[in-house]
Amino acid sequence: MTRIAKAWPFSKVLYALVLIGGVASGGPLEFGARAFAQNIKPEPMPLPPSEFPTPSADLEALIAANNVAALRKHAWLLWSGLTADSSQSFNGQVLPIWETWLSEEETFSPVNQLAAAAAAPRPRILRPFAPPRQFQHGTSALAKALVARTDPKLRLKAFVKMSPESASFLAASHETPAKSGQSYSYISASDLAQLNAALDQSNTAVKDRKIIDFPAAATDLKMIFLPVKPSGLSAIPIWNGAADSIDPTQPTSDTWKTCVAVDPTNSRTGTASINCNGQQVQAEIVPLKAFYSVQIDAAEAATINSLSKLGGAAAVEAGDFQTLVAMHVTTKEIANWTWATFWWQNGKNPPNDFPGSVADMPDAYKVKGPWRNYAMCISNSMVVPATDPKGKPVVCFNPYLETNQADGLNSNCMSCHAMARLPQTGPGPYPETYLPNGFVDLADPKIFGGATKTDFVWSIPIAAH
Ligand code: HEC
Repeated sequence: MTRIAKAWPFSKVLYALVLIGGVASGGPLEFGARAFAQNIKPEPMPLPPSEFPTPSADLEALIAANNVAALRKHAWLLWSGLTADSSQSFNGQVLPIWETWLSEEETFSPVNQLAAAAAAPRPRILRPFAPPRQFQHGTSALAKALVARTDPKLRLKAFVKMSPESASFLAASHETPAKSGQSYSYISASDLAQLNAALDQSNTAVKDRKIIDFPAAATDLKMIFLPVKPSGLSAIPIWNGAADSIDPTQPTSDTWKTCVAVDPTNSRTGTASINCNGQQVQAEIVPLKAFYSVQIDAAEAATINSLSKLGGAAAVEAGDFQTLVAMHVTTKEIANWTWATFWWQNGKNPPNDFPGSVADMPDAYKVKGPWRNYAMCISNSMVVPATDPKGKPVVCFNPYLETNQADGLNSNCMSCHAMARLPQTGPGPYPETYLPNGFVDLADPKIFGGATKTDFVWSIPIAAH
């Protein structure tokens, strides 16, 4: 139900305060700190209305025809918009559009509602780096997931960003179902529980047990980073197929045998001997500028480590460059969202173009500089043909992310996200009926009976509070 004032748990209030003021670990609130007081405003995708959002009928026609090249071009178009320069800078660096967007923490914090109400600008934490939550499959609580680890996999850092359209949608309450006379906030766990109870009471058909749809321009991202030291060479593992892993069935990036040696001075060439996941290998030297990266200052590192409870090997270190190795992109341009994922591949194609490639990338005016070094795959349907429950599963995964999951090498973004619902069953964010790929029937009572679907957005059941 709609309410203005809510009782927020103490920890959430603290988090909100941190979002407002910025905080140094153990220290006082730093209200004028350069890194946090700057008011970066989210900027929309800088693509003309004729290009974005693409009408769903156009995309559905391409999907029905399985026109992979045209659908890949569409994903690169999104990439060109996301990676274009925004009008704002941070710590002397022009921000790409996606950096200006609200993080999941900001979107789901009560501050988002208050800020929307007051239309007041507020300081930001642009990069709430934390260990990827997907790697916490099976743990009992998200809090546990964020506790410091020494697992080398947890050198990987992740965060989720939401476009202005996505974040505003979540900041508002929505009449659900349409014309029911009852409105709910989808960032409130108690509202969502009440919505679910109302769907029970009205005996709503399983296919209609859902929140209302996000707007067409809604876009959600998940970013993945690895650190590069400010001096010397740092090893970054690169995907060279599952066979290039010491664990080909579960080839997470900490098992890959190929690395590049990243040079923060952007001056060295050739090869160098470097420790790559525990093995000494001869690696190609690549300049840091071949990646998108951000250098973390002391205040930012302290805030991130305190917010995400990072310690030991998992802590973010001041002076390190956090280097973008992967990005998930999803847009509500079609009912089941478009799905694409990008990962750093040094501008080349992986063996057998699996799970994707740099093919169909537009010219250097559209996709600039380091952004050209990322390969990509798409899954705009669960199966082919798209509407045939017995169709062939479409496989698309990010080598830095889904390789951590059971059968991740056969996974499909849309199938897993179709499962997003609450209440949750099972211990973690993953449903017990977890399918890595294949057709998911949104009217299946075995999966969705008694639940509320959250329009393919996993953040809602996980981050609503
Ligand atoms: C096996 C299940 C699974 C698969 C496969 C999967 N995801 Fe997710 N995804 C999740 C879960 C759970 C979350 C929320 C927790 C988190 O952020 O890790 C999530 C979060 C996201 C988010 C942030 C917004 C949201 O919905 O919460 C994006 C964007 C995203 N995934 C895109 C993708 C893309 C693109 C692919 C395919 C390349 C993909 N996902 C594959 C389970 C999955």
